[in-house]
Amino acid sequence: KRVILIGPPGCGKGTQSPILKETHCLCHLATGDMLRAAVAAQSPLGVVAKQAMDKGELVSDDLVVGIIDEALHRPSCKKGFILDGFPRTVVQAQKLDEMLAKRGEKLDKVLNFNIADSVLEERITGRWIHPASGRSYHTKFAPPKTPGIDDITGEKLIQRKDDNVAVLRSRLESFHKQTSPVISYYERKGLLANIHAEKKPDVVSKEIEKALDFSK
Ligand code: AP5
Ligand code: ZN
Repeated sequence: KRVILIGPPGCGKGTQSPILKETHCLCHLATGDMLRAAVAAQSPLGVVAKQAMDKGELVSDDLVVGIIDEALHRPSCKKGFILDGFPRTVVQAQKLDEMLAKRGEKLDKVLNFNIADSVLEERITGRWIHPASGRSYHTKFAPPKTPGIDDITGEKLIQRKDDNVAVLRSRLESFHKQTSPVISYYERKGLLANIHAEKKPDVVSKEIEKALDFSK
């Protein structure tokens, strides 16, 4: 299956993606994780991306489209993929359509994570991540076994530089202005499935399974 996850910062894209990836052996491409890796490596791409990310603004379409185009060529992405955080503008969605058309592939579903803005601040400010794997925890909703430590590797957890109230405000603004039109774009194509993202993680997972219907 070829699936896109769309939703505001903190809606649960990064929490649900690894579950889908594991249960269905799909490749998981998260542009935010890829950009953060580039920033950490201080690559030329990372240096450019950092300026936008620290302010909660979007990185240029050309840059992220290039990253996805390259990643979709991985053999592991041939069978199916989960796009987490891409496309975020209508231009990105159109470019993705072109890339897939060239490969003779088409999207199966776009999952729209519905959630009120008011819930997101608590989710974002309580999040801790394991940078190497992208695993995320929450001090209240999904605490690690030992505070500040990754359950699996025993390595230290960190907070993302953009996970504060001021930057969250600008990320939400980018979402409403630039990404909302992408939701309408896929609705018109009949690909959209709405997910109640305010529910508990396991309830959200079940709703996703139902929307994707892997028996087909
Ligand atoms: P990105 O990394 O994609 O950030 P985002 O979209 O703001 O989304 P988040 O990662 O914050 O949220 P999430 O939905 O993954 O939430 P999570 O599951 O972790 O992008 C970062 C930046 O990169 C952008 O601002 C931009 O600059 C740039 N960028 C990336 N893609 C781009 C693109 N395509 N074009 C241009 N620029 C791009 O959950 C959050 C917390 O809540 C966690 O602590 C979790 O444990 C908890 N939680 C999750 N689900 C639940 C639940 N059901 N109940 C209670 N708690 C929950
Ligand atoms: Zn994420």
